[in-house]
Amino acid sequence: MDSQTIRILLDGEPVEVAGVAPTTSLLAWLRAARGLTGTKEGCNEGDCGACTVVVATLAGDGTALELASINACLCFLPTLDGKAVFTVEYLRAQAGGELHPVQQALVNCHGSQCGFCTPGFAMSLWALYNACVADGSRPDAARIRSTLTGNLCRCTGYRPIVEAGERMFDRPARVLDREALRRQLLAQQRTTPLDYTHAGARFVAPRTLAALLELRARHPEATLLAGGTDVGVWVNKQLRTLSPLLYLGEVAELHGVEEDDGVLHVGAGASLTTAFAALARHWPELGELWERFASPPVRNAGTLGGNVANGSPIGDAMPALIALGARVVLASVRGRRSLALEDFYLDYMKKDLAADELVAAIELPRSAAGLRFRTWKLSKRFDSDISAVCGAFALRLQDGVVRAPRIAFGGMAATPRRAARTEAALDGRPWDEVTLALAVQALALDFDPLTDLRASASYRRRAAAGLLRRFFLETRADAPLAPAQTRVFAAFDPGAAVPHGEDA
Ligand SMILES: Cc1cc2nc3c(=O)[nH]c(=O)nc-3n(C[C@H](O)[C@H](O)[C@H](O)COP(=O)(O)OP(=O)(O)OC[C@H]3O[C@@H](n4cnc5c(N)ncnc54)[C@H](O)[C@@H]3O)c2cc1C
Ligand code: FES
Ligand code: FES
Repeated sequence: MDSQTIRILLDGEPVEVAGVAPTTSLLAWLRAARGLTGTKEGCNEGDCGACTVVVATLAGDGTALELASINACLCFLPTLDGKAVFTVEYLRAQAGGELHPVQQALVNCHGSQCGFCTPGFAMSLWALYNACVADGSRPDAARIRSTLTGNLCRCTGYRPIVEAGERMFDRPARVLDREALRRQLLAQQRTTPLDYTHAGARFVAPRTLAALLELRARHPEATLLAGGTDVGVWVNKQLRTLSPLLYLGEVAELHGVEEDDGVLHVGAGASLTTAFAALARHWPELGELWERFASPPVRNAGTLGGNVANGSPIGDAMPALIALGARVVLASVRGRRSLALEDFYLDYMKKDLAADELVAAIELPRSAAGLRFRTWKLSKRFDSDISAVCGAFALRLQDGVVRAPRIAFGGMAATPRRAARTEAALDGRPWDEVTLALAVQALALDFDPLTDLRASASYRRRAAAGLLRRFFLETRADAPLAPAQTRVFAAFDPGAAVPHGEDA
């Protein structure tokens, strides 16, 4: 199969693409080259959801199909080779011009005013609709709201849109023929890896870890591309030129989530949706962070490995992973090594990662019973916002005495970091108000945070101390408070909603 042609199943029709830069976004191509202008550009950086489309991918060696909403603005075209893309135009075309039940419900509930955001909402709802039609479930308002956290609307106020999500099942079901789609996708799989070049810019999608590591060793200047939710923003907003791109998405060895000898092994290429689902099964305390990490389309595309490898000081996964004792597994042609995640971060955006290495996995020891663990993200908005401070706390109590505390913060230093003095102040002491006061004093010495557009240094210090106190109130041996008693989000109980990014 021609390695210079990208093959996509677009709205059910096979399409071949050539002669475009490898960093061309799906959004730009849909609108400019295909005339599919239903998919809108709002922000071009994954924030507004106006560009939401649904992508279907073969899974399980071609025996299964996964559908997920993604942001077309952050998706480079060659990553879609061998996949199916559904745009808002598909919904109507399917029934010869009649509106799809999702679209009709938006009309009936007055869920659209200026209409700019509407295609994105329709596609997020369509992803949910398909999932519900497939498993016979009906979403409640909390699940619909959770599905729509990546879609912004300036006009309607959301209530009519959420109502449309409830009413979209009123009409006769429009069932997607998954089996036909699976067979269509199987037929268009290539036998050799995509190695695509245009105007000197190269995109390679190796199929095995060995091939990827070999390429990495030969091209230390290459940019590794996983979900592209960080890299896509560099291209769209910083106008960066990246070549070659080594795409991790086709390397099955990087996608698995397994448990072995009490260690949870999350492949670096597992999507944030898949990774958080696995993590939250073991540590349900991660549920709120999962819900508040970006939005379903970003979590469906982005990976846990990308979050860890990018290593932003305000990345949200790291504090929790560090508190849980995670290790990062690095791979190169020279072999593998693993190190405690906190030791991976050397300085601002500097990591202990050689030019020929990549992050292969994140490993977490399954904790024995009795771990008291919490993680909280503080940001200006509840949904889809960047943290000012993110804190994670873990300890055990033995006869009321603190053992093995692990406390980590994002937003407090140039890297995600442990609070070493705070941990020392806690270790071996009774978990009471006196120890808490000592720990709060130690915390003030642990970090010297910055003032920036998200928060002042003094806010960060006080907020971090407040989170430590909240952790105490919820985990003290004597009269611990329930999470609902310390939560300030009165109108929304994230415990009631499980994120449903991967609605298929
Ligand atoms: C709208 C929006 C909202 C967001 N919200 C949040 C949020 O709430 N919290 C948060 O923490 N982040 C957030 N992010 C950032 C981003 O989604 C995450 O960092 C995500 O996990 C990145 O994963 P990715 O697979 O998309 O990485 P990519 O963009 O593909 O890569 C990111 C970086 O990591 C490198 N890389 C990727 N995989 C590997 C690997 N296996 N080994 C070595 N290097 C690798 C790449 O070369 C690049 O430098 C948001 C982003 C957007 C656009
Ligand atoms: S254009 Fe705003 S999320 Fe893509
Ligand atoms: S209807 Fe105008 S932005 Fe949503």
